[in-house]
Amino acid sequence: MPPIPQHHPTPRELDDLELLVSGALAPLTGFNEPDSPVTLDLPEDVIAQARDRGLVELVDPEGLPLAHVDLDGRVTALTHAEHGPFRRLHLTPAQAQERYAGSTWVPVADPLTTDQLGRLAEAGPVVLLALIGTGTPTLSPVGLVRATLAAAEGLPDAAVVAVPLAAHGDPEVDHHLGIQVVENYADGDPVLGLAEGGELPAAVAAVVDADRPPPGEQGLVLFFTGLSGSGKSTLARALIDLLLETGRTVTSLDGDVVRRHLSAGLTFSKADRETNIARIGWVAAEISRHGGVAVCSPIAPFDATRRLVRQMVEDAGGAFFLVHVATPLEECERRDRKGLYAKARRGEIPEFTGISSPYEEPEDAAVRVDTTGRTIEEALDDVLVGLRAEGYLDLAAATPEPRRAEEDNLGRAVH
Ligand code: ADX
Repeated sequence: MPPIPQHHPTPRELDDLELLVSGALAPLTGFNEPDSPVTLDLPEDVIAQARDRGLVELVDPEGLPLAHVDLDGRVTALTHAEHGPFRRLHLTPAQAQERYAGSTWVPVADPLTTDQLGRLAEAGPVVLLALIGTGTPTLSPVGLVRATLAAAEGLPDAAVVAVPLAAHGDPEVDHHLGIQVVENYADGDPVLGLAEGGELPAAVAAVVDADRPPPGEQGLVLFFTGLSGSGKSTLARALIDLLLETGRTVTSLDGDVVRRHLSAGLTFSKADRETNIARIGWVAAEISRHGGVAVCSPIAPFDATRRLVRQMVEDAGGAFFLVHVATPLEECERRDRKGLYAKARRGEIPEFTGISSPYEEPEDAAVRVDTTGRTIEEALDDVLVGLRAEGYLDLAAATPEPRRAEEDNLGRAVH
């Protein structure tokens, strides 16, 4: 018999799986029920492999089998996820009822304010249901649990339960799903929805500040995309120097350099280019997760792959700043510092970007800079203006007012 194919669900699907299995989404018991937002998107090849056995095995990011799901979306749990911060607070509705029956059940999607805590202090025993699913606003999942625990400290009788209720893209649909989940936890006990407004108590505010640092302290991925010879690496290097002067540490992920290490052996086929960019994105996202700065400068010719990197970085809590180095092909080819365009024209290099392989111009760049006829300083200044406008970097200490090129005896040309 062929093996049951494995599938790694998205973070949203993993959250949904946990709630389906725990009974929190009842009456929903499976994925893809009619009119339900709780969907599972299986790739065609996985479905094809699953035809004989009629089953797919859903595995967590580390490969632990979590559940079997049949092709109609019906779920059979294999094991519960055991890892992850605050896992001990992830109770099923049945477990929560066993511990806290008779309490007032309170959905919490944002940090609690002093006004709200005042209201809760009068409500008797309360269970704060921290709704921490993928894509929910305001705080990170860990941040919301920490903020809720900090708030609960100030209440006479409060417990915290973590509920990974993900967002599905339609606020109204998610609102109804949320009501259903909370009712399943309350199981007939009173439910209290809190009115918005009020100040954050100091202990809660401290958690919020740590979870959402100001833009100048946030992890940041500066991503330069453009044709070979457009000036990406030169601009990236100049920016890195400025960042180092401010005292920040920087990781450079230059296209040519990455291809000698992280992506050694990859070709310039579409699939390999996507792999290359996904690797760069993965590393950059990890750097941003810890508040660091990554400066990436590959060609990255495909829109979908660039958007994937943006998503990875934002999911890691970092900011993504896309710079399109939009020097036209004619100018890149005229420079041809590495002689590659000439070779590509002679057909000696296949699939060369701009010649025999496409470059999809970004429509989501924060800055677009053409380096034709400009010094590095001038071109870099466009990037700095964009960065300052977003509040990402405090470069004031390192950047004198831009000087005019003819007065600038240090002014290096871009090529
Ligand atoms: S990407 O498309 O995967 O983002 P990457 O930035 O890593 O490309 O590598 C581009 C560099 O590889 C170019 O600056 C150039 O020096 C070199 N190169 C070699 N072959 C090609 C090719 N077929 N297309 C583009 N660049 C190539």
